[in-house]
Amino acid sequence: KQPLTITKMKKMKQSGEPISVLTAYDYPSAKLAEEAGVDVILVGDSLGNVVLGYDTTIPVTLDDMVYHTRAVARGATSTFIVADLPFMTYRLGIETTLRNAARLMQEGHAHAVKLEGGADIADEVAACVRAGIPVLGHIGLTPQSVHQLGGYRVQGKLEREAKQLIEDAKALEAAGAFGIVLELVAEPLAEYISSVLTIPTIGIGAGRGCDGQVLVYHDILQYTHDYKEKRMVKTYADIGTTIRGAIGAYVADVKSRAFPAEEHVFPMNQEVIQGLYG
Ligand code: KIV
Ligand code: NA
Repeated sequence: KQPLTITKMKKMKQSGEPISVLTAYDYPSAKLAEEAGVDVILVGDSLGNVVLGYDTTIPVTLDDMVYHTRAVARGATSTFIVADLPFMTYRLGIETTLRNAARLMQEGHAHAVKLEGGADIADEVAACVRAGIPVLGHIGLTPQSVHQLGGYRVQGKLEREAKQLIEDAKALEAAGAFGIVLELVAEPLAEYISSVLTIPTIGIGAGRGCDGQVLVYHDILQYTHDYKEKRMVKTYADIGTTIRGAIGAYVADVKSRAFPAEEHVFPMNQEVIQGLYG
């Protein structure tokens, strides 16, 4: 099977087939996502929160992204992979942006990169696209700007904000982005933005009018102890409870000497053993 292409994603929008996107951060998560049939894997800088234990995505480095993207690429060899450019790596000029985006593709083996921002980064997006680097945009709640935005709030509820988001979406499309993530955007606005673009929108907390949906691996699987219910997330398993229970059973087995049992150990020739004891 060949990975999806950005051309096919546009056709999926035209034909009304939703695009399924899930994050993954390492070999096993990528392998399972691919086997389950996701259309696109996003190596999100959300790995800062869910894998590395930071409070925000701001401490995530380009090296972190390269390292995780490469592991994902080894696990999902037939899936289109998008990797996030982390905080500040595309805000220091065109040349730095190109160099950093190139690392995600050359060293990380991503097919495309994602940048947070709208009209303000249209030049960076256009430069990447000219250089052969497909770009997925990301507007609405942009977690790298959480301190500037003043928290994780729904975006575009005021008319001025809504108009800005529409302008940002159009600027990203004009700059050559192949799609745009809409995060925490009120449903009617996300639906309107989706209707005025020819490129697909991928929503997270942006409602039913988007051309695709993206969620975080650890969220849908409840793969954390401190998982809290978020309105935009639907959970499909409780892996955290399963894993904790399994580890607890292992610890109990070691303490009670139920593990290792006969079937887990390696026997030895009786004569050799006697020789040992003299
Ligand atoms: O980092 C991430 O996982 C993301 C998605 C939530 C869109 O950017
Ligand atoms: Na991200």
